[in-house]
Order: sequence, then structure tokens, then C-alpha cells
Amino acid sequence: MYIAKKPDIPSSEITPREVFENRRKFLKAAGFSVAAGAISSMLPSAVLAANERQKIAGFSKTAYGKDEKLTSYEDVTTYNNFYEFGTDKGDPVVHARLFKPRPWTVSIEGEVKKPKQISIEDIFKIAPLEERIYRMRCVEGWSMVIPWVGLPLANLIKYAEPTANAKYVEFISLADPRQMAGVRIPVLDWPYTEGLRMDEAMHPLTIMAVGLYGEVLPNQNGAPMRLVVPWKYGFKGGKSIVRIRFTEQMPVSTWMKASPKEYGFYANVNPKVSHPRWSQSSERRIGGGLLSPRIKTQLFNGYADEVGQLYAGMDLHKNF
Ligand code: MTE
Repeated sequence: MYIAKKPDIPSSEITPREVFENRRKFLKAAGFSVAAGAISSMLPSAVLAANERQKIAGFSKTAYGKDEKLTSYEDVTTYNNFYEFGTDKGDPVVHARLFKPRPWTVSIEGEVKKPKQISIEDIFKIAPLEERIYRMRCVEGWSMVIPWVGLPLANLIKYAEPTANAKYVEFISLADPRQMAGVRIPVLDWPYTEGLRMDEAMHPLTIMAVGLYGEVLPNQNGAPMRLVVPWKYGFKGGKSIVRIRFTEQMPVSTWMKASPKEYGFYANVNPKVSHPRWSQSSERRIGGGLLSPRIKTQLFNGYADEVGQLYAGMDLHKNF
């Protein structure tokens, strides 16, 4: 039973207070009469039934993270942040069940030669799909190791043909109140928005994920496509993206708007830059059990050799 394995700290400790307190409102908006936690514990294991899972054909394995110990599929798919489906870690697996990630079209706009729309099927064809095993670290102090399947974001950006004015790229998630009860209440300023500087977006480690564990991305993990930037905190990875917008000005992301003192634009994993509520010096691997020792968090999540030069000369305390 995945509930028994479910890690962790009570959500009251790991979720901003105002967000946690909005949970009741969420459940009301969603029309639930019992707490989502109770719903999750009643869920049959059919939630993860193999027949609902779809293999991705024709992706190649890569050397990225080949020596890492993977976080279990159950933990990766039942312990999620996806506020459009509720603010508790157990909410998305329950409330995203009926979400429809097909048909799906992504709109490419802003500083591009010509705005265009592309279907998710055509995005799958832009570049060969690859498996990348990445360490992922959340600002809340926990981490996972996830075998993503995706394509380099750089290939999608080349397809988008940004102009020379494009300095940043913004990723905008779907906000559909009919399918996502969470967006009916103002827990965050919807739609969920994230952004990267162009050189970060073009970096070979940055991918647009369309799957995990060799299968099509589960709804709760951001189907049909979500951003993955392994040297940044998990919140940079916008899920269920519908618009990609190139801009000259630095975009203001959802979390920057929600709490500018806590969340900056860069959000690089950095053990030396503290967060007002959670230590960034160490982390707890999900799935290791409550007694497992915390591990030291590394600068840029251990990807400093690859990405350190992107921030040469920048004050990372100011640009947090
Ligand atoms: N994207 C959208 N659209 N909505 C969200 O609430 N949460 C973010 C990020 N992307 C979020 C989102 C946060 S806070 C984290 S830690 C990661 O997704 C979690 O991804 P995972 O559930 O696949 O581990």
C-alpha cells in the first residue's frame, strides 16, 4: 500500500500557512465532503493500475544519472505539488485522475518570428526522446531521483524561432476550472507561470519531460508536458504547459508574486542561500524512511560543473 510508504512531515509544516489554510476552501470548491487525505487512503491500488499506464515507445537511454538510486514510481507519483489539484501532497494523484491531457496544443508566442501552435504529438517528433535520470530537490527540503523521458528544451526553442530580442522564456500552465478545482480559489495567481533566462533554457540539461519511468507522464506529474531543470528547485518545473512566451523583460513567476522575499527568479539549488522557513543545507531523500540520515545539499544540486558558468560573476544571494 503506497500510503504506508508515504513519507513525511505533516503538510502544515511544509506548506505555506495561508495556502494550508486555504485547503478547506479548496475541498469545498471541489465539492468534496471528506478531507482529501481520507479519500487517498480509501483509494484502491487501481489508481496506479498498470492498464492505465502507457509505455512510451522509442526513447533512448542515456548516461545521465545511471549510478543514482531511483525514487520508487509510487513515491514519484503520489507525493506531488500541483496546486491546481489541491495543496496537499496527496491531492494531485486523486484529483487529477479525470484530467484530460489529450488533445493538447501548445501556443508559442511573444518574441518569435511568427507565433504558432503545435500539438503534443508534433512536439514528440521535434527531437528523439531520451531518458534522463535527474536528482530533483524541492525548496521544502526533500529530494527525489526521477527517470524522466523528454526532449532537450533547446530543440523546442529552435523550432519556436525566437527573435534576437528574446532574453527570457516564460512557461504558462493550463488553468481550467472545469478540470482543476484548485484554480477556482485564489491560492495562487493563476495560471501557474515560470520562467528561465534564454541561456538556462538552452542548456543541454534542461528538458521538456513527456514521461517518467518509460511511461507517458502521469497527470499528477504534469501531463502531457512539463519543464525539468535539475539544478533549480522543483517549483521551476511548470506542469501541463499550454503557452511558451519569449520576452525581453524578466517574467514574474507565480511564486515570486506569491512571496517575493522567499522565491526569486533564479531559484538555483544553493545550500548557502537560506529560505526563511526551510534549511537549504541538507535534504531528505523521499522513500528512505524517517530515520534515514539527511544528505548534504550540493551547490546547483550537484550540477555545478555543467551549469556554474551560467552564473559567473553574479551575486547569488541577491539573485536567489
Ligand atoms: N506546476 C504547476 N502548474 N502547478 C504547481 O503547483 N508545483 C511546482 C512544480 N510545478 C506546481 C508546478 C512545485 S512547488 C514542485 S516541487 C514541482 O512541480 C513538483 O513536481 P512533482 O510533483 O512532479 O514532483
